[in-house]
Amino acid sequence: MLAHEVKNPLSGIRGAAQLLEDGASDADRDLARMIRDEVDRIAALITRMEAFGDIPRLRREAVNIHEVLDRVRTVAANGFARNARIIEAYDPSLPPVLGNRDELVQLFLNLVKNAAEALPETGGEIVLGTAYETGLMVTASDGTHRHQAPIRVMVRDNGVGIADAVRDNLFDPYVTTKSCGSGLGLALVAKLVRDHGGALEFESAPRRTEFRVFLPTAPEVAAP
Ligand SMILES: Nc1ncnc2c1ncn2[C@@H]1O[C@H](COP(=O)(O)OP(=O)(O)OP(=O)(O)O)[C@@H](O)[C@H]1O
Ligand SMILES: [Mg+2]
Repeated sequence: MLAHEVKNPLSGIRGAAQLLEDGASDADRDLARMIRDEVDRIAALITRMEAFGDIPRLRREAVNIHEVLDRVRTVAANGFARNARIIEAYDPSLPPVLGNRDELVQLFLNLVKNAAEALPETGGEIVLGTAYETGLMVTASDGTHRHQAPIRVMVRDNGVGIADAVRDNLFDPYVTTKSCGSGLGLALVAKLVRDHGGALEFESAPRRTEFRVFLPTAPEVAAP
């Protein structure tokens, strides 16, 4: 029932965005298209939950992590991180990640949203970074093998820092210091990282909080 009730207004939002898209200036057209794409992403998520009662294992494919971060950045910059400066520090030579694009968008949106919510009203900065780092081995969730997770994605902010009270169980559900927070954001992040066969770490002090996500690369496809 909930899925149904969410999907109904979504189709209205999607239709309205499409109408706006037709009559919009170039800059506004991109925003209208973003509304449509994000609505589609939410609708796909709901359809999966509807069909299985839970979110099933998704198809993993080669995903360009910079494309994922661009989307996250656009959503953030036009919404919850409107007042922040968002800085990109990317390694353009990174190979593709093995993962699911929609889930990766979700994962990094949650991290960037937390970063934005920790920022001061002025002078807030969020750095999105990527790098290649060999050496880290992750044990598969079924314990059968160990694999590399060399793609490092970093989300850093110069906000208040993580409160001592929540540090030790930061990734548990319902852990929050916000009056309107659900405390589910980082629990979902941890689950998505685990599902991707990745690893997660953080470091935090006032004016410098950094979350690092390590992800496996997609297997190389032989040249034709
Ligand atoms: N970048 C950050 N800087 C400071 N504190 C953070 C940061 N990220 C997370 N936290 C702390 O961790 C808590 C849990 O984060 P989480 O995303 O799980 O839930 P939430 O943000 O409170 O609620 P929701 O994500 O459901 O809106 C936050 O309430 C906040 O205290
Ligand atoms: Mg959150």
